[in-house]
Amino acid sequence: MKIRPQYVKQSNPLQLSVIQFTDTHIHSGSKTLLHGIDSSETLKSIVRHINELETPDVILLTGDLVEIPDEESYLKLRAILTELKAPVFCLPGNHDCPALMYRLMNYENIKTDKLIRGEDWQLILLNSMMPGEMYGYLDKAETVFLEKAIQDFNDGYSLVALHHHPVKVNSPWMDTMVLENADNFFQILESGHNVKIVICGHIHNELELCINDILILGTPSTNVQYILDSQQPGYNTKLPAYRKITLGASGLIDSNITWIG
Ligand SMILES: [Fe+2]
Repeated sequence: MKIRPQYVKQSNPLQLSVIQFTDTHIHSGSKTLLHGIDSSETLKSIVRHINELETPDVILLTGDLVEIPDEESYLKLRAILTELKAPVFCLPGNHDCPALMYRLMNYENIKTDKLIRGEDWQLILLNSMMPGEMYGYLDKAETVFLEKAIQDFNDGYSLVALHHHPVKVNSPWMDTMVLENADNFFQILESGHNVKIVICGHIHNELELCINDILILGTPSTNVQYILDSQQPGYNTKLPAYRKITLGASGLIDSNITWIG
């Protein structure tokens, strides 16, 4: 599989500035509330905040773009994201329909490219959704693509983005929906020595840990956050959020979460 990289302009040649949104869960029709929160309104407030205060080179949207994958929901999301000044690259989560996403989410500044390159860093976007399943899995095409993308960029550093969490988060219910073939995933990551960071969505929560020198970051949703340590799915009243990641020319990474009140 030959996938051409999409090149992005860096405002500062010494760093690639990335913002991650995740689990936007946009609703169509009259039902707009997701567990009591209007997911379109919280995303709009984040978009306004970013346009006023941030200057990202790239924005990544890491899955669960919509609550129910219909055309109206994707078009509603698209209308909100076109307000952003930076390119927005999307990958699918378990709530998405990849075919519909690829058809509708290539519009103006919104794209679905799987390989993005700056000066010293590349961003690899994976599809971990299995049709009809809540858990994640990387099929053969995705693992071959990942392996090749890492090999082809040995002189630089790589960030890998996917929807599902590749490590368990000590949650009785969320960990039934983990990336099933995580062992294979980490084997591939560790084969190239240039993968520095993995980012995911899905857990609607913060996660930060390091495995064999690879930083693993999970990011809260742009709307509802989960209670992970309960026996059953639970939701809390934490604020919507996004993550900022600065990827330095020497491989250094800086990251923080902004909560939007
Ligand atoms: Fe989600």
